[in-house]
Amino acid sequence: MQPLFRPLSAVDLDAMQRVEQAAHAHPWSRRLLADSFGERYFTGSFWLREQLLGYFIADRILDESTLMNICVSPAWQGQGLGRQLMEQYLCGCEQRGLTRLWLEVRASNLPAQALYHSCGYVENGRRRHYYQSASGSEDAVLMQMLVQK
Ligand SMILES: CC(C)(COP(=O)(O)OP(=O)(O)OC[C@H]1O[C@@H](n2cnc3c(N)ncnc32)[C@H](O)[C@@H]1OP(=O)(O)O)[C@@H](O)C(=O)NCCC(=O)NCCS
Repeated sequence: MQPLFRPLSAVDLDAMQRVEQAAHAHPWSRRLLADSFGERYFTGSFWLREQLLGYFIADRILDESTLMNICVSPAWQGQGLGRQLMEQYLCGCEQRGLTRLWLEVRASNLPAQALYHSCGYVENGRRRHYYQSASGSEDAVLMQMLVQK
C-alpha cells in the first residue's frame, strides 16, 4: 500500500507531536507546531493507515520559502520518504512561484545535509554556536537553492 500525501491541519497535532519527539533530538514544542497552520505556512505529510510517517513545514514570503521542519518517524527512515517529502516540498514551491529557497541545519546533521545537497541546495554560510547541543552549542549551516522560473 502506498503512503497518502496531504497537507497537515490542526487535527493532526497529536500525531505531529509524536513524530516530532521521536525523530528530533531537539523537538519543537507543541505550541510551535500549532503555530504552523497560519497563512504564512504550507505543509505536507505522508500517512499510511491513519499513521503519520513524516511531514514538512515551510513558510513563504514573496518569492522566498524557508523549509522550517522536515522529519520522518524513526521506523520509516532510510526508505526514501525524506526524499519524497523534499520532492513534494519543491513541487509545492514551484506551484506557488517560490524561487529563492532557504533552510538551516545543524552542522552535525550530515544525513539531512546529504539529502539537501542531493536536491540541489548549496551551503552559503554558517551561524556560529546557533543551536544548543549536548556539548553546549553547535553551528547552523545555511543552505540555499535558487530555482529558475
Ligand atoms: C533527514 C530525514 C528527514 C531523512 O529522511 P529519510 O526518510 O531517512 O531519508 P531517505 O531515506 O529519503 O534518504 C534520502 C537521503 O538522505 C540521506 N541520508 C538518509 N539517511 C542517511 C544516513 N543515515 N547517513 C547519511 N545520509 C543519509 C542520503 O543522501 C539519502 O539519499 P540516498 O538514499 O540516495 O543515499 C530523516 O533522517 C529525519 O527525520 N531525521 C531526523 C529529523 C531531522 O534531522 N530533520 C532535518 C532537520 S534540518
